[in-house]
Amino acid sequence: CGSSDDGNVKKIYVGTNAEFAPFEFLKDGKTVGFDMELIEEISKEIGIDIEIKDMSFDGLLPALQAKKIDMIIAGMTSTEERKKSVNFTNSYYIANQVIITAKELGNIATFDELKGKKVGVILGFTGDVVVSKIDGVEVKKYNAGYVAIMDLKAGKIDAVVLDSEPAKNFIKNNDGIKIASAKGDKEEYAMAVYKDNIELLEKINKALMVLKENGTYDGLLKKWF
Ligand code: ARG
Repeated sequence: CGSSDDGNVKKIYVGTNAEFAPFEFLKDGKTVGFDMELIEEISKEIGIDIEIKDMSFDGLLPALQAKKIDMIIAGMTSTEERKKSVNFTNSYYIANQVIITAKELGNIATFDELKGKKVGVILGFTGDVVVSKIDGVEVKKYNAGYVAIMDLKAGKIDAVVLDSEPAKNFIKNNDGIKIASAKGDKEEYAMAVYKDNIELLEKINKALMVLKENGTYDGLLKKWF
């Protein structure tokens, strides 16, 4: 993608799924959020242009493997399963899964307590994998977080399992829902590149280090969280 005559890559295509505030979401038709500003800063540091490609979350890894995009930044957890097909950069955020319920429901202290409940997850998200492993849960898969939250508010499901920051964002913007005390395992967000693109991987890792050292990264954390 985007190679010029002298062999230097001038522009790379960055895949994301802009339905994951505050990491990436659409505002006035533009993809904004923590990840979008982080990759902008990284691209400046490396000296390349980027073009964002917004697509469905479960389309991201196939698009990367088909080299339709050069990399992914999408609040994506670097799981062992995904590491089989792509390379992940050093991690840039630590998160975990949480359980969102209606306010009137009692607290849920462990994920096992989801047993016997109707639980919404987003197709292909790590929350989907986590919940699908628990026996006796009625799992309902959604294409987007806000649809699951709508069903939760309408009483059609008992809970939604989602990453911590987007969950907090939904709580802030919706009445009648809360986050239970149960905490899922730690998950590390990282950017992904295709397997043989070691050059880009190393450039991103180096840029990330520089941004952490010079305060840019902390500035973005403060701005978005
Ligand atoms: N961290 C979760 C995962 O890797 C959810 C990421 C969803 N990101 C998005 N941009 N929609 O599966």
